[in-house]
Amino acid sequence: MAAKLNAKGQEHQAEMYYPNQSIKDNANVKDYDELYKRSIEDREGFWAEEAEKLDWFQKWDKVLDDSEKPFYKWFTGGKINIVHNAIDRHLQTWRRNKLALIWEGEPGDVATYSYHALDREVSKFANVLKSMGVRKGEIVTIYMPQVPELMIAMLACAKIGAAHSVVYGGFSVEALAERIQDAQSRVLVTADGGWRRGKIVDLKKIANEAIGRSATIEVCITVQRTGQEVYMENDRDFWYHELMNLPIANAKCATEEMDAEDMLFILYTSGTTGRPKGVLHTHGGYSVYTATTHRYVFDIKEEDRWWCAADPGWITGHSYIVYAPLINGATVMMYEGAPNHPYPNRWWQMIEKYGISILYTSPTAIRGLMRFGDQWPRRHDLSSLRLLGSVGEPINPEAWRWYYKVVGNERCPIMDTWWQTETGGFVITPLPVTPLKPGSATKPFFGHEVAVVDDDGNEVKTGEEGKLVLKGPWPGMARTIYGDPERYKEVYWKDYEKQGWYKAGDSARIDEDGYVWIIGRIDDVIKVSGYRLGTAEVESALVSHADVSEAATIALPHELKGNAIHAYVILRAGLSGNKELEAALKDHVGKEIGPIARPETVTFVESLPKTRSGKIMRRVLKARAMGVDEGDLSTLEE
Ligand code: WT7
Repeated sequence: MAAKLNAKGQEHQAEMYYPNQSIKDNANVKDYDELYKRSIEDREGFWAEEAEKLDWFQKWDKVLDDSEKPFYKWFTGGKINIVHNAIDRHLQTWRRNKLALIWEGEPGDVATYSYHALDREVSKFANVLKSMGVRKGEIVTIYMPQVPELMIAMLACAKIGAAHSVVYGGFSVEALAERIQDAQSRVLVTADGGWRRGKIVDLKKIANEAIGRSATIEVCITVQRTGQEVYMENDRDFWYHELMNLPIANAKCATEEMDAEDMLFILYTSGTTGRPKGVLHTHGGYSVYTATTHRYVFDIKEEDRWWCAADPGWITGHSYIVYAPLINGATVMMYEGAPNHPYPNRWWQMIEKYGISILYTSPTAIRGLMRFGDQWPRRHDLSSLRLLGSVGEPINPEAWRWYYKVVGNERCPIMDTWWQTETGGFVITPLPVTPLKPGSATKPFFGHEVAVVDDDGNEVKTGEEGKLVLKGPWPGMARTIYGDPERYKEVYWKDYEKQGWYKAGDSARIDEDGYVWIIGRIDDVIKVSGYRLGTAEVESALVSHADVSEAATIALPHELKGNAIHAYVILRAGLSGNKELEAALKDHVGKEIGPIARPETVTFVESLPKTRSGKIMRRVLKARAMGVDEGDLSTLEE
């Protein structure tokens, strides 16, 4: 779809949507150009001004320290804790009794937490973690469904200065084991299971298997959610609710004073090689960056009910379900399950029921809901909605228009936000006052200069495709890859070292109005339903099956998922492929990495197109599958 989409994007460049008067009147930023100019002329001044809006235990000495490029540091000398800003400071105001979280489980159960109640639960769990010996700087792995305890566990870690590594609940055994191992986690927080389309996802069973593969876990704390019987090992396994009822779970816990540059979390994301990268974010810069982007882009107001319908297990959830909205004192909506369970009106029903004012979701979810037809959203009163958002992959104009017309009733601007796990928060995005072109993420956020360049760093002509670069540092940027600073340099900074630019790994073009159109990844990263997977990860899962000797995977357009994974497999000598083996290989990938990584098709082949140095030429496989020109084949040796 990517290619078609871009062609379409180009066709529709003339199509513009303007905000109505009430959006303009209420906007936190009324003049993008003016503030943008100021933020570029004095970037450090701009960020210092935003940082002042947070509470610091001690003010910073220096806004930006670029003495060890590309290892930039922000707000050095400053002391802060993100939890102090997300919870503690609100307790001193009337917000103490404001709803911080409205949560609905898939079966229909509801839980709400005021800021006061959230503080109580976070403090109690922080004390539980301390009693398990969790210390400042250590990494706790969290593997949970979308339940309040996931948010509570993340905040509890941050409160006592431990870092969290949240592994998405849709991942499976090998993916979890590998992440536990890389982080050397001693403590794992999980749940017995989660609900998905009326079925139980057996998280604890997967966790037990993963613990078996990675030797580091000493303590596993399990939230009881789905209630089925699970295996618990003496001295290693504890129930969350039992620990939370012990006297050690005192409701008072001091928030640790952290250096601005101290690690807040790592979050694993896929790259070009097999091993996922632990992207590292910090307390200071990340707090400032997520809060600022959220406040300006989604025009956050005291009375907003904010729903980011992502999973907290991905960066979208870290930044915009947990941290930014709480720092901004908003009321956060969180939902556990599938959008179409039990009926395709589930989301619309919840928007009406809770009076949600902002909905932020992915193109894949929009396409999925659009498929059921207009009657489902039309059945509900969605007039509480004020703004909409999209993230994860380029949104095709058809889905954009449906979202705008049918969900937003032509009243709600759509914030199509481009960013990455590594950027911490929005980078290219409209503001509510920005005239919109469906399919374009529009313009850079404050403090950012972006460009589309060739391999030498020359800007390509207007409208032409090239590589997207970010020209300077920003407070929310990843500081490194955990345990592998060389890889951080290599992946993001080496290509444009001379210029000091960050390579995003996306291709894009910029039109004559300066609007950015993202085309897609240029590396071996595949976006499936907006989720990021590496070809290498899926391939290594395939070859871990006893019958497989070699594998290659590519992405092909898919109507709902954006992209789907297609696998080409060479079997071990003497074996031949059949339907059963195809199904078994798909299941195997599902079990090792997770259901999202399951290949759409598995094709058995005798050979794979390779370069003389033995690298698989995935682009040749892709061209063949799509029936297009195979391009330059001079390095091919099949
Ligand atoms: C990649 C990063 C950042 C939250 C979720 C994804 C693609 C993201 C958009 C958008 C076009 C987008 C890019 C990017 N992407 N948002 N609005 N329009 N493409 O984070 O998993 O780190 O993936 O997602 O290709 O590089 P991620």
